[in-house]
Amino acid sequence: MPLVTSTEMFKKAYDGGYAIGAFNVNNMEIVQGITEAAKDLNAPLILQVSKGARAYANHTYLMKLVEAAVIETGLPICLHLDHGDSFETCKSCIDGGFTSVMIDASSKPFAENIEITKKVVEYAHDHGVVVEAELGTLAGIEDEVQVSAEDSSYTRPEEVEEFVSKTGCDSLAIAIGTSHGAYKFKPGTKPQLRFDVLEEVSRRLPGFPIVLHGSSSVPQDFVARINKFGGNMPGAIGVPEDQLRKAASMSVCKINIDSDLRLAMTATIREYFAEHPADFDPRQYLKPARQAIKDMVAHKIVDVLGCDNKA
Ligand code: G3H
Ligand code: 13P
Ligand code: ZN
Repeated sequence: MPLVTSTEMFKKAYDGGYAIGAFNVNNMEIVQGITEAAKDLNAPLILQVSKGARAYANHTYLMKLVEAAVIETGLPICLHLDHGDSFETCKSCIDGGFTSVMIDASSKPFAENIEITKKVVEYAHDHGVVVEAELGTLAGIEDEVQVSAEDSSYTRPEEVEEFVSKTGCDSLAIAIGTSHGAYKFKPGTKPQLRFDVLEEVSRRLPGFPIVLHGSSSVPQDFVARINKFGGNMPGAIGVPEDQLRKAASMSVCKINIDSDLRLAMTATIREYFAEHPADFDPRQYLKPARQAIKDMVAHKIVDVLGCDNKA
């Protein structure tokens, strides 16, 4: 089976009240950990690549790793550009074999966001590729862009119909309180997503797939292991998984997870070195790290996304 777009996945997810996991990939072990979990659980999958990942690993290497995963798993896999920052980046991924791109012009004024998104949609649709766009801004860090909590803003539901009809985008990322990275909420506060905003967006866009970025849960056992073995991550807090499960049962069809995989990999490698200080064969520490990613993704598929046995 070749790489697929997310169209069919989202239709089934919307109707079935579950979501597809979109996991960021940067190297072979990450691709293998994610796709082995999805294969065991017969789950559809979105593998996403950021601008930073392309700069780190190179477009062709990532493309070939994902093609290898398609051959090895036989699963429907969509290859998606995460946070495309310009028409040129999106075009390069479309021309280079991706089946889905995100154009993230959410920090631009509304009219400009529409204009850039529309241009990407026209090119993408001409090439059989689907487009995710974003309205509202998330706090946190992605690539070299950092948005402070004060500059973040929830999506304005009254804008979504005009945005979707004028751009022709295939899915829409919205801001309802999630943010990128491991420090999503202030320690001592109760994390709470704005389900009222999600409900109003869904009411205005019936049947339309909604995307949640910044959806890592930052499991405290992994933070504790990182801190135990020489790390320093006090106050790392994520999105409660029961709230993600609720979003997945609503119109949210794609949930983006990256930080939790980083935490799993880093906690495992830190622990490995603490226990095996003399080892220096990368396979010795990357093997348990790959397994930790696999376990994390399996947990997300079954307990958060609900997309097991939906491939
Ligand atoms: O939303 C951002 C993703 O976590 C990707 O992060 O830009 O550091 O690759 P990155
Ligand atoms: P996290 O940092 O919460 O994993 O979010 C990842 C993301 O949104 C990628 O686009
Ligand atoms: Zn994101």
